[in-house]
Amino acid sequence: MHVKDLLSLKGKVIVVTGGSGLYGKCLVEGLAEADGTVITTSRNLASAEKTASEFGSKGLQVHPMVLDQGFTDSVENFRKELWERFGRLDAFVNNAVSRPMKGYRAPIAAFEESMRVNATGMVDLLREMTDLIIKTGGGSVINISSMMGMKGPDLSNYEGTDMGDLPPDYFFHNAGLINLTRYMAKMHAGKNIRFNCISPGGLFNHQPQAFLDNYCRKVPLRRMANPDDIKGLAVLLASDAGAYINGENILMDGGLNA
Ligand SMILES: NC(=O)c1ccc[n+]([C@@H]2O[C@H](COP(=O)([O-])OP(=O)(O)OC[C@H]3O[C@@H](n4cnc5c(N)ncnc54)[C@H](O)[C@@H]3O)[C@@H](O)[C@H]2O)c1
Repeated sequence: MHVKDLLSLKGKVIVVTGGSGLYGKCLVEGLAEADGTVITTSRNLASAEKTASEFGSKGLQVHPMVLDQGFTDSVENFRKELWERFGRLDAFVNNAVSRPMKGYRAPIAAFEESMRVNATGMVDLLREMTDLIIKTGGGSVINISSMMGMKGPDLSNYEGTDMGDLPPDYFFHNAGLINLTRYMAKMHAGKNIRFNCISPGGLFNHQPQAFLDNYCRKVPLRRMANPDDIKGLAVLLASDAGAYINGENILMDGGLNA
């Protein structure tokens, strides 16, 4: 098959959770630009609709849906409505993240809240989406973790800023997600479904100059990630061009951790 056809997402239905967030918007845009039919989810419909109409006005196929992965009922309703409306699911991009914990000494209840969404709810949703992909006949799951799920924090990046009080939940659940990816790949052997993980580095978001200077000095490419950087990788993993990539974690950090 021609490589352009391998990379095309035409006819594929793809869910991106947290599609109105920083990396979420990049993922929605890239997957829709590759001709996928993309469902962008948010906890509130207005936010998903805003994202969908922004991309819809560029001629992209983006549909808004409501989902709060912290609640089993919401996950169940989403699964049902998704199947009723689209009748298939080819790829699931597990991107949403909740950030209730603000630092190392934050109340332990904030850790529990993080686990409710980022661990319990995430696994609930992952299992439901996996079932739909298998019912469709196969496809791809892309988990979005972080380079912070692969290593401890480099506190020198935060010198000269007030950003250095990093919460433990983020390191915990992102690391878990990387190995959950391998677990799912093995558990679903023989069902024509692939599970991969992308572990990105930091996306430029107008961070304080001191942080940018500290961070970018260590990146061989001398910059943070930009919105286009994750698109091609997501398209590769969602498409038939990535048909033999399974159980993998791909670090996308400009060489920072090389
Ligand atoms: N931003 C970065 O620099 C960066 C770096 C490395 C990895 N990541 C990873 O990228 C992914 C997205 O991060 P981001 O920075 O774009 O986050 P973000 O905070 O900008 O967006 C997260 C999205 O998740 C949604 N969300 C929160 N709670 C939810 C719930 N209960 N149910 C459903 N959706 C919920 C939010 O509404 C939001 O749209 C995460 O997996 C994160 O670990 C981000």
